Amino acid sequence: MRRRARKGGGRQVELTVTAIGSRGDGIAFVDEKPVFIPLTLPGDRLRVRLEAEKGGGFRAEPLDLLEEGPNRSDPPCPHFGVCGGCQLQHLDESAYRDWKAARMPEALERQGVTAGELREPIYISAGSRRRATFALRRHAGGLDLGFHRRQSGAVVDLQTCLLLTPELFALAAPLRAALEPLLPPGMRGDVILLQAENGFDLLLITPEPPDLAAREALSAFAAEQQVVRVSWAADGKMAPEPIVERSAPLLTFGQTAVSPPPGGFVQPSQAGEAALVAAVLEALPKDAKRVADLFAGCGSFTFPLAQHATVTAVEGDAAALAALWTAARRAGLAGPVMVEQRDLVRQPLHAEELAAVDAVVFDPPQQGAREQAQELAGSPVPRVIAVSCNPVSFARDARSLVEGGYRLDWVQPVDQFPWAAHLELVASFSRT
Ligand SMILES: C[S@@+](CC[C@H](N)C(=O)[O-])C[C@H]1O[C@@H](n2cnc3c(N)ncnc32)[C@H](O)[C@@H]1O
Repeated sequence: MRRRARKGGGRQVELTVTAIGSRGDGIAFVDEKPVFIPLTLPGDRLRVRLEAEKGGGFRAEPLDLLEEGPNRSDPPCPHFGVCGGCQLQHLDESAYRDWKAARMPEALERQGVTAGELREPIYISAGSRRRATFALRRHAGGLDLGFHRRQSGAVVDLQTCLLLTPELFALAAPLRAALEPLLPPGMRGDVILLQAENGFDLLLITPEPPDLAAREALSAFAAEQQVVRVSWAADGKMAPEPIVERSAPLLTFGQTAVSPPPGGFVQPSQAGEAALVAAVLEALPKDAKRVADLFAGCGSFTFPLAQHATVTAVEGDAAALAALWTAARRAGLAGPVMVEQRDLVRQPLHAEELAAVDAVVFDPPQQGAREQAQELAGSPVPRVIAVSCNPVSFARDARSLVEGGYRLDWVQPVDQFPWAAHLELVASFSRT
């Protein structure tokens, strides 16, 4: 049977890039339809091959760069372009900052939301990421360990990475050497690394559990490389099994030491976390007595907030909440800190449940908190503080709050992912 040619696919065209899209690709137009071209910049003139039309636009692969736009610069990392970890190293610093700064007002404008004050982003420098997920691929010639290739499941065997702290990247080579003899050829997996304050925490995700010899080898590796804990899981969903625990990995939130669960969410950099916490505390009214911290994780905001008010931390992930609660009890904060495990998409906190709360902090995953924002919109809570890693879903949720009678007082963007399209932010809403 002959395959029907998909509309537009395979066609070669010349075009000029006019903008950068929300995922960091260059955007040009063909037949008045957008074309998304990776690794290109405004002003670039190029020949591309269009892929099939999808959702009213095209993706395209660049074939020849005929003329360079004015803001190109040399990418500092030799893996740039192949590695999927960074999208914008080829853009000069000032154009990069202009693009990041424009993301927030654009997203708000699309939703018709006006902010009292839109602040300049705080830029977190590269070389500060303390957490990373490396993909693993064991092949006949060795082990590839690094980020996925751009738009591919293949693994870039990283020789350098400018995003990570130097200490965290320095673990990559010994880790590669230690894992290579332990994984059979053909095996794929991931390893999640966290640089905690007292050493490294590793979660190995492979289809088969390590056998006894592998466990012994990992134990020796941990002792040599200041790795405090190694855990294993078959996939990202099952509960990880500890393999080596020399001591619990520790991070300090506010003044409280917390041991995050293996692979658990923490803010990617210490400096980014500090900027977000400072903005959340700035937004917290001085007289707030009761605060709800929604999507609390293991407490990056809960514990700094608990220095000022009683906090109820609500979180869907049992392991994260258990880590938060254990830390609260150990610090003598059971009382000022309370916890509730709850799915905030299926069962958002209702407006009536929020009646006695002076401030709500909510920090959902990328997709935002549509259901919770709608409940907040009908609540009497005087101050709502949003933390988000996605200006688009944030702007949608902000619109619900504004339609419910809130005023968006200010937005503080935090660029915690240098050279990537992501942007984090803290926003303060008050009842009008
Ligand atoms: C962006 S993280 C923020 C965590 C924490 N505030 C921090 O800064 O470390 C989002 C959190 O939302 C939690 N989460 C995701 N979906 C959820 C849901 N449906 N209900 C409750 N919590 C959820 C995740 O487990 C994760 O801890």
